[in-house]
Amino acid sequence: MYKILHKQILTQDIKRIDIHAPAIASRVAPGQFVMATSDLYTHPIPMSVIDSDEKRGMISLIVHEIGPATRTLGALSIGDALLKVVGPLGQPALIDKFGLVVCVATGIGAAQILPLCRALKKKGNKVIGIMGAKSKKVLMLEAQMRVVCDEIFITTNDGSYERKGLATEALKDFLNKYKVDCVYAIGSVDMMEAASAMTRSKGIPIYVTLNPYMANGLGLCGSCRVKVGGHLQLACLHGPQFNGHEVDFGDLNHRMNALKETGWNNQNLLVKTRSRGLVTLVKSLWGLTKR
Ligand SMILES: Cc1cc2nc3c(=O)[nH]c(=O)nc-3n(C[C@H](O)[C@H](O)[C@H](O)COP(=O)(O)OP(=O)(O)OC[C@H]3O[C@@H](n4cnc5c(N)ncnc54)[C@H](O)[C@@H]3O)c2cc1C
Ligand code: FES
Repeated sequence: MYKILHKQILTQDIKRIDIHAPAIASRVAPGQFVMATSDLYTHPIPMSVIDSDEKRGMISLIVHEIGPATRTLGALSIGDALLKVVGPLGQPALIDKFGLVVCVATGIGAAQILPLCRALKKKGNKVIGIMGAKSKKVLMLEAQMRVVCDEIFITTNDGSYERKGLATEALKDFLNKYKVDCVYAIGSVDMMEAASAMTRSKGIPIYVTLNPYMANGLGLCGSCRVKVGGHLQLACLHGPQFNGHEVDFGDLNHRMNALKETGWNNQNLLVKTRSRGLVTLVKSLWGLTKR
């Protein structure tokens, strides 16, 4: 179970892996994720399911290696097996027939938006993709996005490919030129906040996918809590997709930055097995009380 059936190296630190997980493959919907654990020494991490094949009992993940758990996962080879894959978790993304839909993604958000673009296209929408990356070197999934979108626009911060600038600048231009019916955005908190502000002023609905830190993904700890419409929500249970006009991005940014400063590291949760429960509990309480 959870054997790696195929592996593709997309860039030096971005890998696609196809995993044998028939129970998940038969139930997963676009927008849902799994908690993947590589081995006894790495903590489970949330990973979006970017594709699934029910017949072959296979799910696909795209792993951006940024820390211990993602590096361990990315280093597994064909034939290796993950220790555990739990899912599908979270709510399926809202997929409807809107008309003209713009899907904006930056960074690893490209992996997460890919299944949404595919499903929106299948529903009969005209799908425009806007992809932002720091440079051409780290731009991912361009070819796959070209297949599922009617048209794509690319921006790079350093101007090394296509338009120089931010994905939100391309979005602004597009919204000024065309009558857009709906926007989906996945990426940095700043990008999703800017896109939500832009669409609010034009009365266009926007759905954003939030990626807060998640300790267990099961709605048990509170580490992924976000403020939406003035209420506390758990991104792993009620999300990860939310109405962008209702998300308190200031609160999300504050929590993400605070956790970075206090040294959030999934590996910390494992180092001393005996203290794991305590560390998780402290982080959970912090997540529930810090507002
Ligand atoms: C619902 C959901 C879906 C996700 N889907 C994918 C996916 O498809 N592919 C993928 O590569 N990643 C995805 N992620 C992010 C991934 O889970 C984290 O990158 C991973 O947990 C980092 O673990 P690590 O041990 O490798 O790094 P850590 O040592 O935990 O972190 C390394 C650095 O990254 C920062 N970091 C860790 N987690 C996050 C986070 N969630 N958001 C922002 N910064 C973070 C840390 O502060 C630190 O600076 C998703 C996250 C969520 C919540
Ligand atoms: S990760 Fe969502 S409640 Fe624990």
